[in-house]
Amino acid sequence: MKKKLVKLFLLLCLLSGCLFLYAINKTKYDKRRFEDNVTFKNNGYTMPTTSQIKDRVIISFVVCDSRFTESLNVIKSSLIFTSTPLYFIIFTDDKLKSNFSLTLNEWKDVLGDKLDFELHKINFPEAHSEEWLNLFSKCAAQRLFIPKLIPHIDAMIYVDTDSLFLGPPQHLWDQFSRFNATQISAMSLEDDNPNVSWYPRFAKHPFYGKYGLNSGVMLMNLTRMRDFGWVDYVTPIMLKYKLYIPWGDQDIINIIFHYHEKAVYVLSCRYNYRTDQCMYGDACSDATKDGIFILHGSRRAFHNHKQPAFEAVYRAVEEYKIGSDPRIVLEKMKEYLEVAPESNCGNLKDAFLKVPRHTLAGSNEKPDR
Ligand SMILES: *[C@@H]1O[C@H](CO)[C@@H](O)[C@H](O)[C@H]1NC(C)=O
Ligand SMILES: *[C@@H]1O[C@H](CO)[C@@H](O)[C@H](O)[C@H]1NC(C)=O
Ligand SMILES: *[C@@H]1O[C@H](CO)[C@@H](O)[C@H](O)[C@H]1NC(C)=O
Ligand SMILES: *[C@@H]1O[C@H](CO)[C@@H](O)[C@H](O)[C@H]1NC(C)=O
Ligand SMILES: *[C@@H]1O[C@H](CO)[C@@H](O)[C@H](O)[C@H]1NC(C)=O
Ligand SMILES: *[C@@H]1O[C@H](CO)[C@@H](O)[C@H](O)[C@H]1NC(C)=O
Repeated sequence: MKKKLVKLFLLLCLLSGCLFLYAINKTKYDKRRFEDNVTFKNNGYTMPTTSQIKDRVIISFVVCDSRFTESLNVIKSSLIFTSTPLYFIIFTDDKLKSNFSLTLNEWKDVLGDKLDFELHKINFPEAHSEEWLNLFSKCAAQRLFIPKLIPHIDAMIYVDTDSLFLGPPQHLWDQFSRFNATQISAMSLEDDNPNVSWYPRFAKHPFYGKYGLNSGVMLMNLTRMRDFGWVDYVTPIMLKYKLYIPWGDQDIINIIFHYHEKAVYVLSCRYNYRTDQCMYGDACSDATKDGIFILHGSRRAFHNHKQPAFEAVYRAVEEYKIGSDPRIVLEKMKEYLEVAPESNCGNLKDAFLKVPRHTLAGSNEKPDR
């Protein structure tokens, strides 16, 4: 009887041992299989030296097709208000690469060390690359893969191409230091008014918190996102929800952070100020108090002739010539806002001008060149 029990025990031990080994082998195998799917073709790009990126605020965006000029204005706006050197990481299609190279090198000749950049080809994992390319607007989903595509970069500020800095990028970069140990990324909420909020009323998928996040401005600690395993999450989520995610990459970000709320640092609405924050009245008291810091012209607000205040600010930045006195931009902003047709957003004119005024107040001398 005793012998039988011992035998049974030994058998059980052997069995669980096998199971354990099998499980280990399986996870290893599955992991490898998954990693195999998230591979990228080498895009023949050379690494910058660390001195090129050291002590720089790093700003990144993704641009395809028609948004070339708009994206140059993102760069322009940040150069107008910065007092520290900037580094741009641009993901773009082959057609636009030489355009960027040409323009940015011209600007570099004028500005010297204040501006540097690297250009990357659009690069999706080979598996499902078609689906990725066509999710939401062309190639916008690229940003989901950035943590793996630029392993030499620790952190960056991602912005949609339809946004404009109204203050020094360094100030936004400083928000990284506020992250606690679990936070990997920072964004503003989509909104916080239950009456008009999109996600709680219409979303057919999980989203962050009560109102969802807007991903147009996103602080990404890439080191932490890589440790988190970010890129491994995105493909299974896309495949599961692809029929239910009208905002593409933003929805995928919301789904991931729905399950990882502690990983998000929520930014004030003034860092991602959209028409939603003013078209029905003042919905961002931080901006009224401290000024808009990044203006985000989503839904074509800079171009569709429905938001004169947004258009006025955009026009002032667009007309600015690199190397000239930044205070000209402020004068133009004031002038164009003054003559713009009345609108709810335009009624909050001071919120648009506060940060540029404050930023440029100290710069009395002309830039030396
Ligand atoms: C581990 O799993 C793979 C795939 O199922 C199999 O080919 C391989 O022989 C296994 N290795 C061991 C040691 O069981
Ligand atoms: C990897 O891709 C293959 C072929 O497209 C697919 O069968 C497999 O399920 C994928 N694996 C994962 C983990 O997505
Ligand atoms: C990019 O450069 C090419 C060649 O100079 C030019 O034909 C094209 O219009 C430019 N594209 C944009 C969007 O400026
Ligand atoms: C990002 O996170 C890593 C790891 O926690 C940390 O070492 C690094 O300083 C962070 N980067 C920034 C810009 O805060
Ligand atoms: C939402 O709508 C209700 C009813 O119309 C109104 O009383 C309330 O003030 C609104 N809330 C906000 C935040 O606008
Ligand atoms: C970090 O902040 C988030 C959001 O405020 C919170 O949920 C989380 O518990 C914090 N993590 C730590 C380690 O304090």
